[in-house]
Amino acid sequence: MFEQLREVIGPAPAPISTEEYKTRQMNLLSQLEEHDLLLIPSRPESIRSNDVHFPYRNHSDMLYMCGWEDPESLFMAYSENGNWKTALFVQPKDILKEIWEGRRPGVEGAVKDWPVDEAYAIDRISTVIDEKLEKVKRVYLRQGLDAELDAIIQDAVMRRDRLRQQFDLGPVAVEDPSARIAELRLIKSPAEIALMRYSAQISAQAHVMAMRHTSPDVGEWQLESIIECAFKYAGAQGNAYPCIVGSGENATILHYTVNRDPCKEGDVILIDAGSEYQGYAADITRSWPVSGAFTSAQAKIYDIVLEAQEAAIAECKAGNPFNAPHKAARTVLAKGLIEIGVITQTLEEALNPENGELRHWYMHNTGHWLGLDVHDVGVYRPNMEPRLFEPGMVITVEPGLYFGAWRPDVECPIEFANLGIRIEDDVLITEGEPDVLSKDCPKTIQEIEAIVGTA
Ligand code: GLY
Ligand code: MN
Ligand code: MN
Repeated sequence: MFEQLREVIGPAPAPISTEEYKTRQMNLLSQLEEHDLLLIPSRPESIRSNDVHFPYRNHSDMLYMCGWEDPESLFMAYSENGNWKTALFVQPKDILKEIWEGRRPGVEGAVKDWPVDEAYAIDRISTVIDEKLEKVKRVYLRQGLDAELDAIIQDAVMRRDRLRQQFDLGPVAVEDPSARIAELRLIKSPAEIALMRYSAQISAQAHVMAMRHTSPDVGEWQLESIIECAFKYAGAQGNAYPCIVGSGENATILHYTVNRDPCKEGDVILIDAGSEYQGYAADITRSWPVSGAFTSAQAKIYDIVLEAQEAAIAECKAGNPFNAPHKAARTVLAKGLIEIGVITQTLEEALNPENGELRHWYMHNTGHWLGLDVHDVGVYRPNMEPRLFEPGMVITVEPGLYFGAWRPDVECPIEFANLGIRIEDDVLITEGEPDVLSKDCPKTIQEIEAIVGTA
């Protein structure tokens, strides 16, 4: 059933090159001063049960700066005679560990195959960093990821020893580099865009496969397994976030991930699923009828959401504020609900964030940055003003309407009881028109009805 998948998805793009990693590093380091030290620790491993860990995924800042994927690692940069040097601390070669857990590049492999000048075994952190700290005034460190490293730096800042007293040597300040890295990560390079387009294409085709395999009584978990299988079969690492596969009332729970109910004839199923390819997330939602045909009530809501989504995508243009899509989507949703009698307020009243009725049925934002993290980094309102779109930013556009008949806080219109519809695409801001990375995922009623249940 997966034979054609890779063919439809097409050839894989090139991974991020060594030159690009070095450019990223210099983009950050050129903002620092000579007596600064940069330390980016890996994310700690976490326990799933007893002695079994969750599958490891490194911190996105580490992936961004040097592409190192393994745990117990640290990226370091320091300045020497006016030149920046980069280094990785990594797990050393260890035959016993490698027999049990997998091969390690080790120190030699790291320096040979990763974009750094030097590498050290991770157990040398204290020795090497202590030496560097003698010449450092400020440390850029994301604290809270590595307690041992935090303690070394804090100790160095607090130290009142001979070096400090006699020569005023040693760090006096610790700063978080995350905000600077976030600014760099917000604008995607051509190589990143190619990877994100590919991740979106894998995800779009996975949704198509799930549509094909949908029919009454299929389990939410079965559709989830098809999506996850498609991601991995196509070469993605897996999901960028847990799949949301909710049918009927489950579709009205925004982050429903239990995925344990059978899909019933007459219900709509909402699937929000995106792959992670070479670290880059896709984030796509589609909603379709379990039986293969929308009822007229479902189609009414679907059309309103689709119109809202298209209006929002049209706002994804360089120079527009980032929240222009949200405003456009809310306006179309409110107008649509007024037209069909779900909202009885005026348009202005309906849009009021405090007491407008739209918020009963549409309670989330229309999008978020997308990149190495599904909810990617980058400030939305620097200096309290909405950021303007720039070419190279990628944002999701994901309006929806959710009519949970189970909710005690509002009275759900009976015609739409337990209907949840969201349509989500990933959009690249360009110099010109919005570039929808996930455009190959079907979304008109006609396209969807022609696919559902055809497997
Ligand atoms: N998949 C989570 C979201 O759409 O934000
Ligand atoms: Mn999503
Ligand atoms: Mn999203």
